[in-house]
Amino acid sequence: MCGIISYIGKQDALQILIKGLKCVEYRGYDSAGIAIGDEQHPFRIERSVGYIENLIKHVSPLGLKGHVGIGHTRWATHGGIFEKNAHPHVSNDKKFILVHNGVIENYAALKATLLKTGVKFYSDTDTEVLVNLIAQYYQQLEQLPTSQRFEESVRKSLAEVQGTYGIVVICTDCPNELIGVRKSSPLVLGINPDGLFLGSDVGAFSGHIENVVYLSDHEMVHIKGMDYQITDLMNGSVTSPSLETIDREQNTADLGDFPNYAKKEIFEQGTALGNMYLGRFSSDGSSAHLGGLQITPYELRQVERILLLGCGSSLYASKIGASLIETYARIPVDVEYASEFCYRNAPLNKNTLVFVVSQSGETLDTLNALREVKRKGFPTLAITNVVGSTIAREAGCGIYLHLGMEVGVAATKSFTGQVGMLALLALYLGRMRDMSFTDGRQFVQALQSLPQKVDEVLALCDKPMQKLAKTYVDYQHCFFIGRQMLYPVAIEGALKLKELSYMHAEAYPAGELKHGALALIDPSVLTIVLATNEEVMGKNISNMMEIKARHGKVIAIGLEGCEIPQKAYDEVIYLPKVYPALLPIITVLPLQLFAYYLASERKCNVDKPRNLAKSVTVE
Ligand code: G6P
Repeated sequence: MCGIISYIGKQDALQILIKGLKCVEYRGYDSAGIAIGDEQHPFRIERSVGYIENLIKHVSPLGLKGHVGIGHTRWATHGGIFEKNAHPHVSNDKKFILVHNGVIENYAALKATLLKTGVKFYSDTDTEVLVNLIAQYYQQLEQLPTSQRFEESVRKSLAEVQGTYGIVVICTDCPNELIGVRKSSPLVLGINPDGLFLGSDVGAFSGHIENVVYLSDHEMVHIKGMDYQITDLMNGSVTSPSLETIDREQNTADLGDFPNYAKKEIFEQGTALGNMYLGRFSSDGSSAHLGGLQITPYELRQVERILLLGCGSSLYASKIGASLIETYARIPVDVEYASEFCYRNAPLNKNTLVFVVSQSGETLDTLNALREVKRKGFPTLAITNVVGSTIAREAGCGIYLHLGMEVGVAATKSFTGQVGMLALLALYLGRMRDMSFTDGRQFVQALQSLPQKVDEVLALCDKPMQKLAKTYVDYQHCFFIGRQMLYPVAIEGALKLKELSYMHAEAYPAGELKHGALALIDPSVLTIVLATNEEVMGKNISNMMEIKARHGKVIAIGLEGCEIPQKAYDEVIYLPKVYPALLPIITVLPLQLFAYYLASERKCNVDKPRNLAKSVTVE
């Protein structure tokens, strides 16, 4: 995690860095800092704990000047949330200033060696080790011309480093130069006629540039004024950059009239799903058109098993997707935590098709899982929202969600988008197997009506959920229970409540509560029962009665036309009937609203929950 932005060019760096930092703040917000200077202005480093706003207040009166700068927003890994641990970090000799996203795994050993040579450390970070290592190599390489000496020092230092990094380095002897390097932490070069940028993602310099180069792992970019050269980190050989044009629209997210991104992104889910489905239904209206898959129907018919890998909400969306694919295409699907898959050497059947699911396309656990699957020679596809992200590029092919940028740290529209896309995939695979033309038509019509249904349900649930949030704001514990495809929806509902409002929440398959967790039920515990699946309504009602018999509080999410007896709940909201495959999407909406309003009542920062980050690029 951590966000990086840097600039070198004709404009003043300060405003560019501040704007860029705000755009990458979703990657971490424990502290922020910048270093600014140029040939005329000695570099100055300023840092603050907390949000970018604090940094802005701090630097505003200082009149920092310079056309070269680096900025960083931190998600703490090594060292607590103090100003001394904020980036940029500087070497003892003050010649090198560095921002880093990633983890230097062997930092303790490197630090011990540096300590023996007299280096002093002023922070608890792994990053300060790297900046001093670079300075030490620089001293040793004095025979080289300055600019080359700078580059070689970075190269030699990184050869000693184990771990992950996206870094940008300033050398005060070469004030008009920057060096950026990437290994498993994203770094993108942005190019415009006025200057060059390096950022953790294209959003960091959105509005400024149209052309970008996505650095690959082990690539180093050395910027000198308005020129740049990309080389292989290991052997220094020059690589030819592949320039890509970015869609400015895709990388901007205006709040409009909404008070925050969380609310905006909840309420734009209908529109986002509509955009996602554009052009994605087959012309006969009975199947899907998924151009990005790049697998022939013949090859798809050979698939005997599917594996879905992801983290957080993407994993829970995958669990729903697995049920959808199994139900409609009758292909067995496994779902695994990407972080676990990487290190457990799971046996994979031949003819297994692997999808990695990630909103950001940058989650390191998911990226590592993708690489492990590729190493084993399996075809991999990605389902991501961010065009050009590392996972999208490394997977080679897959499906973009095109939901527009998601800024709120807690996934909302990306969750429903992923489920909506996996539903489309289930339809596509189903139509290649046993699903009839008429069943396919019915499925397509349901998906086409989904955006409107989502808007309706949000409008229906908005006020009631706001009211319920006020009623239960002081509760400390909440269970979410559901059966079938609604169990993963329950997990997502619990995750939203935890992330946004910090209320303790747990999810169970509804039938499992009685096998242990029922011991915790008393009048101070709230249970939200997801009871929109008609087939198991009787079972759901029994579970509610069991909770009520122990004086627990119950909010029931029911289905129009399926009356739930009053004694089974304290509160109820009935959702409209939809095509069964769409129930998970419809049912998660009131849960998102409940978490959002409860968090608002508790005065939580709904866009940037404490301790979290949107794009997790550490293991
Ligand atoms: C982080 C975010 C979650 C997200 C997860 C996976 O933990 O806070 O909201 O679900 O990463 O992210 P991805 O971008 O891979 O979907």
